[in-house]
This record gives sequence, structure tokens and C-alpha cells, in this order.
Amino acid sequence: MRIDQAIASELRDSRGTPTIEVTLRSGDLSVRASVPSGKSTGAKEAHEKRDQDGKGVNDAIRGLRESIFPRLEGERFAFPNDIDHLLLSVDGTPDKSHLGANAMLAVSVAGTKLAAALSGLPLWKFIGTHSGATPALPRLYMNVLNGGAHAQFHSPFQEYIIVAGGSETLAHSYEAAVRAFWKLGDVVKREVGDVPLGDEGGYAPMCDTLDLPFKMIREVIDGQGDLALAIDAAASEIFLDGFYTFGKESYDRNELLALYQGLVQKFNLVSIEDPFAEDDVQGFQEITRLLGKDILIVGDDLTATNPNIVSAMTDTRAANAMIVKPNQIGTLLEVYRAAGIAKNAGWELIASHRSGETEDSFIADLAVGLGCYGVKAGAPTQKERVAKYDRLIEIEKEFLY
Ligand code: PGA
Ligand code: ZN
Repeated sequence: MRIDQAIASELRDSRGTPTIEVTLRSGDLSVRASVPSGKSTGAKEAHEKRDQDGKGVNDAIRGLRESIFPRLEGERFAFPNDIDHLLLSVDGTPDKSHLGANAMLAVSVAGTKLAAALSGLPLWKFIGTHSGATPALPRLYMNVLNGGAHAQFHSPFQEYIIVAGGSETLAHSYEAAVRAFWKLGDVVKREVGDVPLGDEGGYAPMCDTLDLPFKMIREVIDGQGDLALAIDAAASEIFLDGFYTFGKESYDRNELLALYQGLVQKFNLVSIEDPFAEDDVQGFQEITRLLGKDILIVGDDLTATNPNIVSAMTDTRAANAMIVKPNQIGTLLEVYRAAGIAKNAGWELIASHRSGETEDSFIADLAVGLGCYGVKAGAPTQKERVAKYDRLIEIEKEFLY
């Protein structure tokens, strides 16, 4: 593939924060990729480059224009991996602090989109072929109640998720999940009153008991065969000096473990993401031993889509599933490596958006291409989230027919 032109520009994410968009052109063909941004970011994530004000992306864009684009324009690349190798060698740091993982990822994703478009394959199929994975349609992980860092800690856990799919078509599961989400709006209004929406578009009620969010969701999904319940505890955000604190309650590792065990039994949870803090590997190991036969224990901050860390965490059996977030690491080459290591260890994958999103639907293709068990894309109240679901429904038609 020959790249004729590379352009980087600024656009705003779903929080109104600047982010980066890269356009690559080859002949008449042009593709665009933009990158999301997290709020409850893990300490092991690659560096997101921001200007001195902590917001702008002018420095990151300048870095691409000065150090990367002159090496792309007018050049030919056999595979998108070659672009990733170039990005990694120019950056030259272990944490991507020179170019910034955000700047690198925009180029990496645009390179893959361009290669896929030139090959004539749908993007998900190209990703499957190129990463060595077997494509499959994922379950939908729709975050319907936002708590934690995404909603001023109005509810104890960061995300209460309706899991849809597994037995029906994606289109059908999506419809069922959206209807349950609307119904949940009525239940929340009845129990708590009018509430704002959180960063990922779900309701953000002030819940003063641990059980209330679970009860409200169970009320709208019970009897709906295709719908289940999961959480992202994002426990790194509530961990301080050996204790996990929600509202007025503090728990040590053993107490939190017992709490999860009770919640799983009472509310029939099918997966728990980041149940313990990113450095509390012992907590992860214990919950995986205790509950991992029945439910998914999902690493997010724990694994940070980093091949070296994933390798260490699979060796120590710290979980049985992990989140795939490309902007945690910065190149798709490394995303495929991390995903491959996890899959080889028998782990499930859940591809994920970030709380600050754009309308780029890339993670939909990534989820299918890598054969992920699930895909997290938020609530259907923001176009940035709906764009992912729309693309998944489109992919399902390409996949099945
Ligand atoms: P973030 O949260 O995008 O704000 O980091 C998402 C998550 O923890 O899964
Ligand atoms: Zn998470």
C-alpha cells in the first residue's frame, strides 16, 4: 500500500475534550481514525500525550507531523504492521511518552483501515486474517448505570452492565438491551427520581445501598432469556492504604471477596471486571480461584492490553478474561500480541470503548475480528456509543450472509 498523504487534526470527544484524528490517503481512497480517552485510567497504561494544560493535543499532532508523516508520505508498506514498527522505533520509549500512545494509535488504526480498504475485505475480516484470530460475533456489554469515577461516585461500582447475546442475533439482543435500558429509566425514576446521565450515557442515580442498582436492573431483565448482569468495579479507583471504600463502608481484601461472592449468588452476575486494584494480584488470584469456574473475572487496569503484563498475569492465573483497549498500549501490533497471549491461556476477550469516545466505530470491527466474547460500548444515549452498535449490526449482516 502506498500512502500519498497523511493529515492529523483535532476533534472533540464525548466530554468535549480535544482528541486526535488521522486521515490517510492512497490514490482516491481515504480513511480516518480517531482515538478515545479514559478517565479511570490504570497506572500501567501507555502515556497519553497532552499539552501543558493537560487537555490539548497540539504537541501530539506536531509530533506526528514532524517525525512520522514524512516517513509515511510517498512510501509503500507491505503490511500495516510495518507502520506500527515504524511508530515504535521512532517513539523509542517503553511507555510511548515520546509520540504519545494517543497519537500512535490514530496512525496505527488508520493504517489498518487503509490496508483493509485496499484489500477489499471488510475491516473485521482483515483484522482476523492479519492477527491470526478467528472472527466471531460478541455479546454486548451495555453499561446502563454509571457510578464510580464516571458519575461522582453516586453508586459504589463504576459500571452496572446488561450483557446481551449468546443465543440470539446481535440485532435482536441489541433491541432487547435497549428496551431494558428504557424500562430501567422508569424504574430509576420511581426509586430515585430524575437523575443525570453519566460519562458513558447510562443513568447515574444516587444509590445509598449496595443492593439498589442490582435490584433495579434485575427487575428489568428478569424473564428476558438473552439478558444477564455484570459489573466493572474499577477497584483501583476506590483503593487506599489496603482498603476498598464505597461511600461510608470500607473493606479489606477478604471482606471484599466475601461481598462479591454474595453479590454473585444473590444477583446472578456473569462477570466482574477489575474486582481488585491493579496491584492487588493476590486479590485477583483468590477471586479467580473462588469464582472463576462460574463467571468471568476480567482484568482491565490489571492487564492494560500490554503483552508483557498479560503474559505475567496469565502465568499467575490472575483472571480468566481481559479487556482489550487499543489506547492502553498504542499500536494494533501490540493489541494483537496481547490478545493472542490471553487467548492461548484460555482467557476470554472483551473489547472496550473508553469513557471519552468519538464516533469512530473501530472497536466493533476489532471485537469481531479478534473473536471477542464481548464488546463494551456504553448506553444508547450518545451517538459515540450508538455508532459502535450500528456498525456491529452491519457487521452481523456481512458475517452471516
Ligand atoms: P475509562 O473507564 O474509559 O474512564 O478508563 C472504562 C473502564 O474502566 O473500563
Ligand atoms: Zn474497566
